[in-house]
Amino acid sequence: MSESVTRTQVGIIGAGPAGLMLSHLLHLHGIESVVLESRSRREIEATIRAGVLEQGTVDLLNETGVGERMKREGFVHHGIYLRFGGRTHRICFSDLADGRCITVYPQHEVIKDLVSARLAAGGDLRFEVSDVSLHDITSEAPRIRFQHAGRACELRCDYVAGCDGFHGVSRPAIPSTTRKDYSHTYPLGWLGILVEAPPSTDELIYAYHARGFALVSMRSTTLQRLYLQCHPDEHVDAWSDDRIWSELHTRLENTEGWRLKEGKIIQKNIVAMRSFVAEPMQHGRLFLAGDAAHIVPPTGAKGMNLALADVRVLSQALDEFYRHARSDRLANYSATALKRVWRAEHFSSWMTSMLHHFADRDEFQQHLQVSQLEYVTSSTAAAKSLAENYVGVPMG
Ligand code: FAD
Ligand code: PHB
Repeated sequence: MSESVTRTQVGIIGAGPAGLMLSHLLHLHGIESVVLESRSRREIEATIRAGVLEQGTVDLLNETGVGERMKREGFVHHGIYLRFGGRTHRICFSDLADGRCITVYPQHEVIKDLVSARLAAGGDLRFEVSDVSLHDITSEAPRIRFQHAGRACELRCDYVAGCDGFHGVSRPAIPSTTRKDYSHTYPLGWLGILVEAPPSTDELIYAYHARGFALVSMRSTTLQRLYLQCHPDEHVDAWSDDRIWSELHTRLENTEGWRLKEGKIIQKNIVAMRSFVAEPMQHGRLFLAGDAAHIVPPTGAKGMNLALADVRVLSQALDEFYRHARSDRLANYSATALKRVWRAEHFSSWMTSMLHHFADRDEFQQHLQVSQLEYVTSSTAAAKSLAENYVGVPMG
């Protein structure tokens, strides 16, 4: 079969939140793109990941016409609970973060909304592509080669956006001589479960316990999302339903009368915790966005929000290029995005350090940790700092 060649303005690798939102924003600016995704549409729309949208993310979805379902089905939360030492403390965003708040709306629902908006607008999304490779990224005519439906294909573009997540092919296309990777791995994992039961709480509960961290979140009026700190190398098979419930009850319940609602566990998975940043987020005409360039531990709920903030900056820079033939913003993309990235890296690492049990911490360090928790739940200044980072510093 002959090779298929397509020409577009921006070639986007990956149909996660970053790639789909970039394609959507570019379309609103009148810029063409093609999105290449290795998985099927069904798979990307069913993968359970993030749940918390910052105020800026909510605003972005609303302003660009893809927020309707989120407004109907998402849960608006004006605070979170921190639970430790048998007591619960509320961090009130409305009071501490100038009225900004968060919305709990699952990442895969954001994906569904973006896919349907792109397809309704005639967008070119290609699922189940394979053997994706990048070529001539330092020239003015970069190319992406891939296989699709049994055919060798080439996408010729002005720019390439690497939105293919942490394990994608885009970041390795930047030579290690011009790229610096910063990373930190934690001796921690999260066991996440999806439970058929109504939410046990009106707002998220982050709990610190000597047996480890636990988090109570939600997905809908009939589904709960719960997490337990575990060892990063553990296999989910080591976690029977009984063991999970026993740990959750121990780590979460206290004398205040709060009780966790149980239900059928319909999914279990373990993720290891890592912080990672690749600098710069650009090489020639390749621009990285989202998890392709940086990873945060999930304790700060920042990953998807950062991915969307990156592509907002990138879409504005590309708009300036196509509209005014100026590339100043493109040249500044990496520096602009990295400012927000490092803030989120710090916050996520700080939340992780404050809320988990670290086996290698001595008694002195454990006292410091409890003192930090007491400070953040008793000092308005400390709580304000947590709140403004959690709801997200304003975009743009
Ligand atoms: P991804 O979502 O990883 O998308 C990349 C896409 O590229 C994928 O669809 C992949 O299939 C595709 N791809 C990969 N390689 C190729 C290739 N070679 N060719 C073509 N396509 C390719 N973030 C939050 O903001 N809030 C939260 O509450 C939160 N909770 C989380 C909880 C857990 C348990 C986990 C694991 C993550 C959580 N995150 C959270 C992080 C968030 O899910 C990620 O940061 C987010 O998915 C990043 O989006 P992305 O588009 O950059 O990458
Ligand atoms: C989630 O609902 O999946 C979730 C919530 C808060 C976090 C991480 C994940 O910090």
